[in-house]
Amino acid sequence: MEIARFSRIGFILAAAGSAVGLGNIWKFPYVTGENGGGAFVLIYLLTVVLIGFSIMLAEILMGYLGRQDTVTAFEKLAPKNKGAWKFAGFQSFTGLTIMSFYSVVVGWIFHYVVTSFSALPSTVAEAEASFMSMLQTDALTQIFYHTLAFIFITFIIVKGVKKGIENLNLVLMPTLMLILLGLFFYATTMDAFAQAVDFMFNPKWEKVNSHTFITAIGHAFFTLSLGMGAIMTYSASLEKDSSLVKSAFWVIFLDTTIAIVAGLTLFTFLYQYDSHPAQGPGLVFISLPAAFYAMGAIGNIIAVLFFSALAFAGVTSSVSIVEPMVQYFIDRFKWSRLKAALAMGSFFYLLGLVAILSNIEGFKDVLTFGSKNLFDWLDFVTASILLPVAGVAVSIFVGFVMDKQKIEAVLKPQLGSAFEAWYFSLRYIAPIGLFIVMLSLVGII
Ligand code: PFF
Repeated sequence: MEIARFSRIGFILAAAGSAVGLGNIWKFPYVTGENGGGAFVLIYLLTVVLIGFSIMLAEILMGYLGRQDTVTAFEKLAPKNKGAWKFAGFQSFTGLTIMSFYSVVVGWIFHYVVTSFSALPSTVAEAEASFMSMLQTDALTQIFYHTLAFIFITFIIVKGVKKGIENLNLVLMPTLMLILLGLFFYATTMDAFAQAVDFMFNPKWEKVNSHTFITAIGHAFFTLSLGMGAIMTYSASLEKDSSLVKSAFWVIFLDTTIAIVAGLTLFTFLYQYDSHPAQGPGLVFISLPAAFYAMGAIGNIIAVLFFSALAFAGVTSSVSIVEPMVQYFIDRFKWSRLKAALAMGSFFYLLGLVAILSNIEGFKDVLTFGSKNLFDWLDFVTASILLPVAGVAVSIFVGFVMDKQKIEAVLKPQLGSAFEAWYFSLRYIAPIGLFIVMLSLVGII
């Protein structure tokens, strides 16, 4: 159990460091591109407001009251059936599965930091060819950088979460935001900006199907770091008497703003350079380098800074993805931090190797199951199924199982008359909404 405590601002930074990551800048633009733009963005934003906030606050509350790993938090806070409820705490295991592909993408970004020092691709087509050749033929480069990501992330976790993360976030979050804002203002001066706004905010309902809903909702969970105990684990170290509501608000506000700014910027560059938004996971690596090239000599410097900041955003999120399971083994089995971090690290590292191979020509066929290869399955199953299912567990647990008086004692002074609205949304809107979407997934509706 960590004895050190997060101050409120320290917690917001750590939680925002967890939420703001590859999900905002790598994933959001490309899933938006693949799902036709406006309608997808609208469903995602509605999920964030109607469901994300309720569950974020519920997770922060559970961590704050539970004070330990997720399994212990469920066990401790359940008035009865403790033995059964503790299984809901194993949602943290999802993190190791997410980490397998997340670490690979952090690795790609490390690679782009390095290549940004030399000649940038002069056209989007050239950028696409070079990304695709890395993805589909160059297993060694990917394994090298995935290994580097694994070492880096595990090292930070071994050193203990609190201080390292707080210091790292303090420098890197503002750096990332500054670069992103700079790029955004640059994008607003381009003709294609209007087209990007139209693509992102003008819903084309004919493109919507149940898959769009599931992906948008899954993405809302993924980007807010909900449904696997990351936020819960951080809030276990939150100082007494902190405002949980303000913390939840700030994390969500920062995360959503950054995603929208990143999306508008990337799509503007793509349209400006005659490319299209449905590029898949390579989008950020394809749209940006060509834009950096067009800036001339300064482009290299901005590229290096941008990819470095993005790498660190990915690393701070990675730490929060692995930490819940590490905390679990420390709390429940009295493992040393070193042992727990190495064991969890090895798991995601090895699964990550297979994820890399599933994109490589020659291995792809054996590692493709139905419509997706392993890499895409890991992403889809974790984000679209496991995180929302765990979100339902949290909402039912806090909404129906936990003692209401205990919840009121903490949150009523902070929420005032909005308390009942939050409680209602947690009990009914979140689980019913998510349940209907889950049903459509299995084809029942
Ligand atoms: N929210 C992170 C991102 O957007 O990149 C990813 C993430 C972190 C997912 C922590 C889940 C989690 F528990």
